[in-house]
Amino acid sequence: MNKKLFGIGLASLVGLGFLTAASASDPKPEDAAKYRQSVYTIIGWNFKPIGAMVKGEIPFDAAAVARHAQYVELMSKAALEGFPKGSGPDAVKHTEAKPEIWTNWDKFETAMSNFEEEAAKLTEAAKGGDEGAIKAQFGKTAETCKACHKEFRKD
Ligand code: HEC
Repeated sequence: MNKKLFGIGLASLVGLGFLTAASASDPKPEDAAKYRQSVYTIIGWNFKPIGAMVKGEIPFDAAAVARHAQYVELMSKAALEGFPKGSGPDAVKHTEAKPEIWTNWDKFETAMSNFEEEAAKLTEAAKGGDEGAIKAQFGKTAETCKACHKEFRKD
């Protein structure tokens, strides 16, 4: 690795360390809500076109499915930290998160890891490129969205 690149690498590592430290220190409830809503916006953005292909509304494109599925998987791992204690509807004006998330945390966490697991399998299926397998796994992943929304998100 040349010296210049190494310098940049080091600088960005230091930068990342700073960001991690900052986000670990009690985020403001409004900021946490904004963060998780952004994560879900990215999830929805990438999940929707896969759904449209599965339903035959747009042409099936294996490469596009693989790309979108990767973002969904990545974001599935980023969502949980957007729900720190005290960031529920009593502290945040614009949120659809129900208070049950925090009174029933274990169940919420389980719902999240179910989603993470199915999203990871969707990426795997997408890499395989088999349309039938992708369709089946899309359905299973969508079930985990619905299960959590039904219980933990306001309509
Ligand atoms: C473990 C629970 C859980 C899972 C799994 C989950 N969601 Fe959500 N989702 C929520 C909650 C809670 C909110 C409301 C967040 C808020 O308003 O603070 C939300 C909000 C959203 C939003 C609205 C974001 C905005 O602009 O406010 C979209 C879109 C969304 N989810 C899509 C999905 C999709 C698609 C999946 C599955 C691929 C999914 N979610 C899986 C809990 C979940």
